[in-house]
Amino acid sequence: MKTMNTTNLMSRRTAVLTLWTHLCTLALCKTPGMPSLHSALRLRRRLCTKMQTMAIKTISMRTMSMQAMALLTIALLPNVSHATTADDAAPLQLSGSCPPSFEHIADNRCRLVSRYQAYDSLQNKGVGGTKTALPAARDGFSPQQIDLGRYLFFDPLLSANHRQACASCHQPAKGFADGKAVSTGAFGQPGSRSAPSLWNVGFLKKLFWDARADSLEQQALIPLFAPHEMANNAEQLLADLSTSPAYPALFAEAFPIDEPSGSRQQPPRITLAQIATALAAFQSSLISLNSRYDQYALGYQDALNENEIKGLNVFRSFVARCAECHTPPLFTNQQIAVIGTPEPAGMPFDPGVGNTPEKAKLRGGFKVPTLRNIAKTAPYMHSGRFATLDEAAEFYTKGRGHAVPKDEHLQLHWHIWEPKLSPDEIHQLSVFLQTLTDESLLPATPTRLPSGLPLPAELLGPELFSQQPATTSTPHAASPFAGPAARHVFPTFNQRASQ
Ligand code: HEC
Ligand code: HEC
Repeated sequence: MKTMNTTNLMSRRTAVLTLWTHLCTLALCKTPGMPSLHSALRLRRRLCTKMQTMAIKTISMRTMSMQAMALLTIALLPNVSHATTADDAAPLQLSGSCPPSFEHIADNRCRLVSRYQAYDSLQNKGVGGTKTALPAARDGFSPQQIDLGRYLFFDPLLSANHRQACASCHQPAKGFADGKAVSTGAFGQPGSRSAPSLWNVGFLKKLFWDARADSLEQQALIPLFAPHEMANNAEQLLADLSTSPAYPALFAEAFPIDEPSGSRQQPPRITLAQIATALAAFQSSLISLNSRYDQYALGYQDALNENEIKGLNVFRSFVARCAECHTPPLFTNQQIAVIGTPEPAGMPFDPGVGNTPEKAKLRGGFKVPTLRNIAKTAPYMHSGRFATLDEAAEFYTKGRGHAVPKDEHLQLHWHIWEPKLSPDEIHQLSVFLQTLTDESLLPATPTRLPSGLPLPAELLGPELFSQQPATTSTPHAASPFAGPAARHVFPTFNQRASQ
C-alpha cells in the first residue's frame, strides 16, 4: 500500500512539474518586453527551475493541486521575470580581467603564465622529455579584446545567413571541433576536411591542416568568407556589426583611440583587422596545460596509473616514435609530415600541403596536429577517417604506406615504418592519449549575444531544458572564464619572475 502511494505521488509530482514548466514558459512569453521565444526559453532555465525548487521545498505535493500550482506561478512570475528582464536589458560590458592562467601586465595586456616556462627549450632535452619548454605563445592582448573575441566567436551574425558561428564548427563541448568527419557550412554545404580542435592554437606557427595560414589573424578571415563555411562578405559583415545594437560600443571599448574626451562624435568604424585581432585574442586564451599528463610531467607521480605510464612509454619509445612528431609539451613539433592516412570511401585523395607541382615532395603532407584534448575531438585525421583513438593508433602499425592509393607515390616520412606494436601496446597508447584531457580553462558560452541573435542551435545543449538548478551569476558580472572547473587550475607559477 505504501509503495502504491509513493508511486502515485511520484507520477503526480511529474505531471504537476511538467504542466508547471509549460505554464511558466507561456507566462514568460507573455511578459512585456520579452524579445523572443528564445529569450523566454533561456529565462525558463534560469527562473522557472529556481522557482520550482523553491516551491518544491515549501509546498507539500500531497495537498497541492495543479490549479493552485499554476496560480502560484502566475502570481510569482511577474516579480521575478521583471528583475531578470531588466538584467538582460542592461548593456553588455567586456570583462576587464585577464582569463585564469594569464597575468595582467602593463599597458592593459594579458600574459600567459605556465609552469613550462621554467624549463629550457627542446634542445638537449631529448625528444619526448617531460621537462621541456613550450614555444612562444601569442599573448599580450587586452582583456577587452579577448572578451570581444569571445562574443564574436559565438555570434552567428558573422555568417551570411546569420545561422552559423565559429563555435558551430568549433564547439566548446566537443574540444572546439564539431564531432563530424567533415564540417558543413552555414547553408549546409559539405566541406572537405575535419574541423581541428582550437585548444592551444595560440602556440601554433602555421594554421590549417595544410599549414596555409601564418597567423591567427590571417586565418580568422578565411572561414568568414569561404563559400563552404560562413559564406559572408566583408561589406555585409561590417554593415551588420556597425548597425547592431551593441557591437560599436564594444569595439570602441576593445580598441580605444587616444583622443581628447568629448572630441569624438560617434564610435569609429569597425574594421576587419579589429575582428581578426579580437578572434585571435580569444582563441589564444584557449589554454590546456593542466591535464593528468602535465601533473605527472611536472612531478606528481601518482597522476597517471600503471597502464597510462606504459602508454606514455610506448608513445615516447623509439619503436613507436609518436613523440618524434607529436612532441610534448604541445604534442606537435609543428612540422609537416607525409604519413599516408586514408581518405573515407568516395572522397578524392587530398594532396594536403603538396597541392602544386613545386611542392610535389610534400604531396599528402599535413601539419602534425596537437594531441591535447584528443579524447574530445573524434573522429580523427584531416578526413575524420578514424572513429576512435585505438583506430588512429592502429594506423601506425599496419605497415608503411598501407593506405596510400596505388597510383600515388608519396614520399612518406622516415618515422613512419613498421613498429609492430602489439594490440596491448596500441590500447595503452589510446589509454595514454586520454590523459591529455584538460578543459579547466573552458571559457563561458555567452548567454546573451551583442547582436541579439540566439546562439546557433547546435550550441544549445540539452541542459537548456534540464531541471538542474540554474546558475545565479551572469557571465558578464563574473569573469567569463570562471567555470567551476577553473578552480582546479594549477596555482600561478611565478618562480621565474622571482629568480
Ligand atoms: C563550417 C565549419 C567551420 C566554421 C564555421 C569555422 N571553422 Fe575553423 N575550421 C574548420 C575546418 C574544417 C578547418 C580545417 C580546414 C583546413 O585545414 O583546410 C578549420 C580550421 C581552423 C583553424 C586552424 C586550426 C589549426 O590547428 O590549424 C582555426 C584557428 C579556426 N578554424 C578558427 C575559426 C574561426 C575563428 C572561425 C570563425 C571566424 C571558424 N574557424 C569558423 C571549420 C570551420
Ligand atoms: C612522422 C610524423 C608522425 C608520427 C611518427 C606520428 N604521427 Fe600522428 N599524426 C601525424 C600527422 C601528419 C597527422 C595528421 C595526418 C592526417 O590528417 O592525415 C597525425 C595525426 C594523428 C592523430 C589524429 C589527430 C587529430 O586531431 O585528428 C592521432 C590520434 C595520432 N596522430 C596519434 C599518433 C600516435 C599514437 C603515434 C605513434 C604510434 C603517431 N601519431 C605518430 C604525424 C605523425
